[in-house]
Amino acid sequence: MRIPRARMVASTVAATAALAMIPAIAFAQPSHPLTAATSSATSHTTSGSAVPADSLRALGAKVGLRIGTAVNADELASSSTYDSITAQQFSTVTAENVMKWDTIEPEQGQYNYAPADKLIAFAEAHGQLVRGHNLVWENQQPAWFTAESASLSADQVKAILKQHVISEVSHFKGKIWQWDVVNEPFNEDGSFVNNIWYQKLGAAYITDAFIWAHQADPKAKLFLNDYNLEYTGTKSNAALSFVQQLKAKHVPINGVGFETHLDTQYGQPDLLNNLQRFAAAGFDVAITEADVRTTLPVTAVEQTAQNADYSLSLQACLQVSRCISYTVWGFDDQFSWVPSTFAGEGAADIYNDFQPKPQYTTLQQDLELATGSAARSRY
Ligand code: G3I
Repeated sequence: MRIPRARMVASTVAATAALAMIPAIAFAQPSHPLTAATSSATSHTTSGSAVPADSLRALGAKVGLRIGTAVNADELASSSTYDSITAQQFSTVTAENVMKWDTIEPEQGQYNYAPADKLIAFAEAHGQLVRGHNLVWENQQPAWFTAESASLSADQVKAILKQHVISEVSHFKGKIWQWDVVNEPFNEDGSFVNNIWYQKLGAAYITDAFIWAHQADPKAKLFLNDYNLEYTGTKSNAALSFVQQLKAKHVPINGVGFETHLDTQYGQPDLLNNLQRFAAAGFDVAITEADVRTTLPVTAVEQTAQNADYSLSLQACLQVSRCISYTVWGFDDQFSWVPSTFAGEGAADIYNDFQPKPQYTTLQQDLELATGSAARSRY
């Protein structure tokens, strides 16, 4: 994730022009492949471990919203406390790192699916659906590719990308609820990130990635995922325009992921408006990476602001029927990406040292309040 830059005056001309060449394509709409997981999402997991009635997943189930977390595969393999919180509190899990290309294909043609397969086995044992993250990004590419990519032709880069997307999606076919197919393709000004894919292939890399992913797993829900879409402005305007044009061309894109990495030093996003306008355009939406960082040490004022940001993000999702999941980007401060990225900031998650924080209680209370409203049918 790039550090957010000050917003600049935008143009979506690049997005529009890039789509002019896409031929009309007809694709079947996905149905949900993992219905087996839904029946065990509230009282017990399929492995028999109890789900507390006041857990985020149980309360979310009452209102038809899956509550999830990104999972640190190293911790899943080594901490029983981490495992039990992950199993008891969440009904969908996202691979924080083990489905990224550098892990999946460390050497060209040599695949390492074991860590991700373990996560999927854990999810299946605990009645959880899986968010695959992510297929195409500028970060965490394997070294064998980054070492040679600049010297490769467009056709060579396209062939490598196609092989990567189809082989990974095929391996996990039927086991992934939502795929983050393309991650963070937009700059703050609405232009396309000038990553290797865009340099070699233009915006067609995005279209192709969705087409290939759909070919490999027609039932998976395919998402474009980015940050700062929570705010109305140049980036979210460009993203909306682009995905609308993909849809008009019958490119198999189903949803847009709102990462929702918030920071108490910035104003609150008009997230509800943005969830609503993407949903109104015919897309599923999801909060995919929620966390709320602040400067350390956390003051009472900042704690209140963190609670308010978490509440705003969950309540926005609850108010939009096509918001199909709310995922925190890891649940415990011990393992958060934030301190190593934003010096002097942290405390972004809802637990610390495996103890729930006020942020957790805020989410719990919001879900309890929502259980009074009409349950939503999307679960
Ligand atoms: O696996 C290596 C390990 O072998 C090595 O010893 C160690 C020390 O160098 O690094 C390990 O890789 C780290 C990897 O996480 C796995 O732990 C990378 O250095 C580290 O940069 C990487 O950070 C991840 C980051 O994406 C990379 O951009 C974070 O854990 C992860 O939370 C973060 O997640 C991203 C989403 O994918 C996209 N949205 C933004 C979000 C936050 O940046």
